[in-house]
Amino acid sequence: YGDPSQKIDYVFKVVLIGDSAVGKSQILARFARNEFNLDSKATIGVEFQTRTLVIQHKSVKAQIWDTAGQERYRAVTSAYYRGAVGAMLVYDITKRQTFDHIPRWLEELRSHADKNIVIILIGNKSDLENQRVVPTEDAKEFAEKEGLFFLETSALESTNVETAFLTVLTEIF
Ligand code: GTP
Ligand code: MG
Repeated sequence: YGDPSQKIDYVFKVVLIGDSAVGKSQILARFARNEFNLDSKATIGVEFQTRTLVIQHKSVKAQIWDTAGQERYRAVTSAYYRGAVGAMLVYDITKRQTFDHIPRWLEELRSHADKNIVIILIGNKSDLENQRVVPTEDAKEFAEKEGLFFLETSALESTNVETAFLTVLTEIF
């Protein structure tokens, strides 16, 4: 995971957004440190982590920003989106409300971020298939309509987390 002495060709800022408890911080922990915590605490304010990867023979430093889903703990919105070239819009496949709120997050994103920002819709907690309430088809259809990439992930089982970040980073590239 990244050699600090290597030269960096690009730095890409990517933001994570979505309701509280959908798993944003654990998706980031999985991607940046290959860690997962079942007792993850709600994020307060804003945090970020970086990981350097090689994409098409260039070293790309991904700077991933994570803020609170809870309104009262959120970072200053405009500062959070400033300079972001990618966004991950996360819901929980076991909580319908978190999917129903996606249009609101998308609206906030589109009103604050650069118009060329690359967006991926992520249905997290795919390991909880027996508790699923959001059909994959519904999300896929919404993503197509809005022109977003779409993947279901599990931060717990490490499914598609790497692919989700690579999808965004490669498209930015
Ligand atoms: P806020 O910081 O409040 O916005 O929440 P968040 O979106 O960052 O959620 P967080 O990453 O803290 O995860 C919330 C809870 O869901 C924690 O108990 C995590 O362990 C759990 N969780 C996260 N990802 C997964 C997953 O892929 N599968 C399962 N089963 N649980 C997950
Ligand atoms: Mg969090």
